[in-house]
Amino acid sequence: MTKWRIFVFLLSLAPLAAMVWGVLDDRLGANPVEALSHESGTWALRFLLVTLALTPLRRFTGWRKPVLLRRMLGLFSFFYACLHFLVWLWLDQAFAWGNMLADIARRPYVTVGFLSFLILMILALTSNMFSMRRLGLRWKPLHRLAYLAALFAILHYIWLVKADLLQPLIYLGIFVSLMLLRLPRKVVLGKPRRVVKKQLAA
Ligand code: HEM
Repeated sequence: MTKWRIFVFLLSLAPLAAMVWGVLDDRLGANPVEALSHESGTWALRFLLVTLALTPLRRFTGWRKPVLLRRMLGLFSFFYACLHFLVWLWLDQAFAWGNMLADIARRPYVTVGFLSFLILMILALTSNMFSMRRLGLRWKPLHRLAYLAALFAILHYIWLVKADLLQPLIYLGIFVSLMLLRLPRKVVLGKPRRVVKKQLAA
């Protein structure tokens, strides 16, 4: 498992390496701030959706290994969200806190992005063993908020796109599928044939 972890950890750093390389080699096009915001935002969302996909993957395939990477991948989602937030705060808002708060209050797409970011922060801060022990039975429902964070992030994306909605709608489709896969097994796979036959015979 350790080798797996190291491999996935290094692979998860690849988008960061590509962004750093893009900046150093001046490959980010005419609007580098937009390119960095785009890359960090989409990677935060992708990592979040991959993290949410791990439990259904175990449920339907019985493959346990990927679930052990859930915490690391969730933290990578938060890491890229921090980068995304920093790009906005630094390169877009020039650390003008007043402007920033006004933007969060005035623009709905920034409001939902910020809410998603806050949820990810709470989840990252409580993802350690100490918080798990302290929160006990409350830990699981709290961490289900990851779904809300993903929904807010997708709404944020849908809201800010002006023309081509295809990309955010693909993410929405993936999110809805993941939600459906959380339904009880009976509902997703249908009733076992035996039960259906019995019901028809009755
Ligand atoms: C404080 C919170 C956030 C702020 C202020 C913020 C701000 C922004 C801005 C200004 C853009 C537009 C970039 C551009 O086109 O120039 C953007 C795009 C985006 N953001 Fe956020 N965001 C926040 C949180 C998040 C979070 C938590 C996620 C994901 C988990 C996320 C995912 C995205 C995605 C996927 C895009 C679209 C990328 C693109 O195609 O351009 N954002 N965000």
